[in-house]
Amino acid sequence: MGLINQVKLIDFTERGDERGYLVVIESEKDIDFNLKRLFYIYGSEKDIVRGQHANLKTEFVLVNVMGSSKVCVKDGLGNEKTYTLDRPNLGLYIPKLLWKDMFDFSENSVLLVLASEFYDPDEYIRDYDEYQKIIKKSL
Ligand code: TYD
Repeated sequence: MGLINQVKLIDFTERGDERGYLVVIESEKDIDFNLKRLFYIYGSEKDIVRGQHANLKTEFVLVNVMGSSKVCVKDGLGNEKTYTLDRPNLGLYIPKLLWKDMFDFSENSVLLVLASEFYDPDEYIRDYDEYQKIIKKSL
């Protein structure tokens, strides 16, 4: 259960006044890693499943800055956990080597993804059987 227990929800401070709200995320302060990349996912239909991969190196924090979605993390050993992201100040930290599925996107969902590494397609494992083999080998 080790790796999956490292997944955590993060409540970012919401700085609000009469003008509205603002959330700040600083590298190595509000998140544990040094941010190298961000991307965002939007326009995905409710029945679409995105992600469906694990990363050899990259750690992530996911924030639904608008709307909502669900994220299921799996450790390749039969353990899985599903989180709902539905607030612009709620983050989900996911360490490297966990399988991730994102689904159940609301119509207005904008899912912001903060990543610890630059994009490298070679560190993405997109086949679940291969992922399970890698995990079992690493035990
Ligand atoms: P993909 O990894 O399939 O997205 P998701 O995790 O949401 O399922 O990425 C979609 C496309 O975008 C794919 O062609 C790879 C490309 N891409 C980049 O070029 N850089 C990136 O940082 C990411 C995340 C994807």
